Amino acid sequence: MVGANLTVAAGAVKKVIPAARSATLRYSPGVSAVFDTLVAEYPAWWIDFLGEHNHIGGADATRWLLERSGLQRGDRMLDCGAFVGAAARLAAAETGAAAYATDLNADFLAAGRALPGGEAVGWVAAATAKLPFRDGAFASVWSLDSMILPREMTRVAAPAATICLCCEVPADGRGGVEAFIEEWTGLGWEMRSHRSLSLDALQAWRAAEAAMVAHRSKYEARYGKRGYLAQLDLLAMLVQSYERGATGHGLFVFVRG
Ligand SMILES: C[S@@+](CC[C@H](N)C(=O)[O-])C[C@H]1O[C@@H](n2cnc3c(N)ncnc32)[C@H](O)[C@@H]1O
Repeated sequence: MVGANLTVAAGAVKKVIPAARSATLRYSPGVSAVFDTLVAEYPAWWIDFLGEHNHIGGADATRWLLERSGLQRGDRMLDCGAFVGAAARLAAAETGAAAYATDLNADFLAAGRALPGGEAVGWVAAATAKLPFRDGAFASVWSLDSMILPREMTRVAAPAATICLCCEVPADGRGGVEAFIEEWTGLGWEMRSHRSLSLDALQAWRAAEAAMVAHRSKYEARYGKRGYLAQLDLLAMLVQSYERGATGHGLFVFVRG
């Protein structure tokens, strides 16, 4: 149900650990103390290299989607897999929407709530596969580089809603991106806007891979020896897949057809 009690206690980010800030982290002003604490507690390449707007394209991509979301003051917006809810906080601040952020990880939501604009957002720990909201509750449903569940996201979208996505898509000649779009079409959506971020993603993965190699001792200390190799392998696979043209990345806005 919309308006459900917030499931994350304010101030749940417990202890302040000396900052382990990567040179590549991107913050909005006033973010650093809370975000540094979270970064220190969660050694992960995607936090280190993507930062607060934790998706390819960063805050620019969030703004691109926001401009096309149709959100108006008082509309309900849902940011699924929100991490620290950068998109939800921006939507609430810039449009006056009643924004909600969901994520599997309550610590991420607690940090988001303590960040600038966090008080304007509803924070609910939930899996995108089973959203605790009624049918048709939201005027815009978002998922940015998180798990996308088209059926459940459609269930909570209002009749005139938009779906805003930043995501990886299969891009090879075997019907990749068409199949992705058709899945949404089959649920009654029509693609209104699309922007390719495939080159941005390739560049981001290459830069992350290069930084991890160049600063191996720093990242080994942060992720552990096995963790370092696992994360480096994952980045190498991503780079290869984008270089082969098998995987792409993009922004998508869908409206009801
Ligand atoms: C790469 S981050 C993207 C965060 C955010 N959407 C953004 O763009 O800043 C992925 C997030 O999705 C969350 N996540 C992954 N699978 C999820 C699921 N099935 N349901 C809810 N959240 C999920 C993770 O906990 C993580 O915070």
